[in-house]
Amino acid sequence: MKKEVRRAVIAGNWKMNKTPSEAAEAVAKTAELTKGMNGCDVVLCVPFVDIAAAVDAARGTDVKIGAENVHFKESGAYTGEVSAKMLTECGVEYVIVGHSERRQYFAETDETVNLRAKAALSAGLKVILCLGEVLEQRQSGITSEVVSMQTKLDLAGISAEEMKNVIIAYEPVWAIGTGLTATPEQAEEVCALIRETLSGMYGKDVAEATTIQYGGSMNDGNAADLLSKVNVDGGLIGGASLVPEKFLKIVEAAQA
Ligand code: PGA
Repeated sequence: MKKEVRRAVIAGNWKMNKTPSEAAEAVAKTAELTKGMNGCDVVLCVPFVDIAAAVDAARGTDVKIGAENVHFKESGAYTGEVSAKMLTECGVEYVIVGHSERRQYFAETDETVNLRAKAALSAGLKVILCLGEVLEQRQSGITSEVVSMQTKLDLAGISAEEMKNVIIAYEPVWAIGTGLTATPEQAEEVCALIRETLSGMYGKDVAEATTIQYGGSMNDGNAADLLSKVNVDGGLIGGASLVPEKFLKIVEAAQA
């Protein structure tokens, strides 16, 4: 990656795993293991109910805490949802929006993902925006069309200034939780395409400064190769982020 212009970010996405006490333990362990590794930012995105324990355990360390989703309204009758202000008041700095599991299982669309991203940015959160093609789209040869369209729709109305707080996670849906990883070349090709799309929307400087992660079965064995690519600026890691010792290996790979 281009370290002169952008920051590597290694973020864990715990999904629906770990109770608050387990979260406290894992955050503390991750912070201890990754201490002093300043070559990348280290973020753990945790379930809502784990936030208080995670923020507490991360206090005074280099680990930053994120949430896994956010609603776009400030308050109101939206049972089960959480607002951006609730998250910031709890000490959350990052939030994932548009994860494929939210799109697949909870009917989120580019429109609602865009609204969530805008609400999070307005509240001062850093957004990790996930996008990526499903297997049929890749097999039909329309990956670039799908990914550039998602990039444009999900970022609609977000300013160049706000892009300083946006990280994009390219996550081919066929690689998530499947053990199938995109090859470094496939990841590089699509991350470069996302950067080109950003260049068209915001100009070259913003595009060059935006952190673009790869996500989808990234692990201690494949992280170094993926992260060696110039347009791959970090990772969004599911399964391998649950075990601090495994996550450490990925953080180490990002120091190079
Ligand atoms: P995985 O998940 O690393 O378990 O494939 C990645 C993600 O869903 O962000």
